[in-house]
Amino acid sequence: MHVRIAVLASGRGSNLGALIDAQRGGNLPVHIVGVFSDKPSAPALALARESNIPTAHLDPRDFAQRLAFDLAAFATIAKWKPELIVLAGFMRILDPRAFEPWLGRIINIHPSLLPKYPGLHTHRRVLAAGDRQHGASVHFVTAELDGGPVLAQVMVDVRRGDTEQGLAERLLPREHALIVACVDQLARHRLHWSNEGIRMDGQPLACPLVLADDGTLETRA
Ligand code: GAR
Repeated sequence: MHVRIAVLASGRGSNLGALIDAQRGGNLPVHIVGVFSDKPSAPALALARESNIPTAHLDPRDFAQRLAFDLAAFATIAKWKPELIVLAGFMRILDPRAFEPWLGRIINIHPSLLPKYPGLHTHRRVLAAGDRQHGASVHFVTAELDGGPVLAQVMVDVRRGDTEQGLAERLLPREHALIVACVDQLARHRLHWSNEGIRMDGQPLACPLVLADDGTLETRA
């Protein structure tokens, strides 16, 4: 059975593209039921349309309050009856009251090794701090910005002479593999999050899974 997923994206949509490609390749047991954006001109929406995926967008400027926009957004998304919501480059802070019904069924990909560097400009901040390692995280979305329980991470080395753009470009394909692997494991019902924390095959996950070179998720040694 394919799991119904909705994807939220604000811009380029390369993570969405990775999910579409994996689904098309028959490797990902999901049905992308809709793509929502807060930016009418987001390339992610065009990508979805090219792939015959339903799209919707709402402009935050049409709403007097943030909460009103967020409630309208989730009402729109709910019409697609998704079982899982994936934030893939969705660049707005959401009011927890709007996604409360989706807790445990909404995930986000963030370009840092959380809990390090929540928020923006992660690559720049990694370089400024002189970190030797960078990466991306997929976490369940909670009220805390980029602060929900982390399912899995991927690491990349920071190289001497790296620029913000170079580092971002090296990380991006690993992000794509990470989001596909996480959605795959959620769609196969191997990963769950409840009050007791994240469980993998029914066993508590002591720390986030790590993406291996072959694209599978491993427990940390
Ligand atoms: C990705 O790098 C994603 O991790 C990041 O935005 C980019 C979206 O790229 N997300 C965040 O920073 C969320 N805090 P994409 O539109 O090509 O998928």
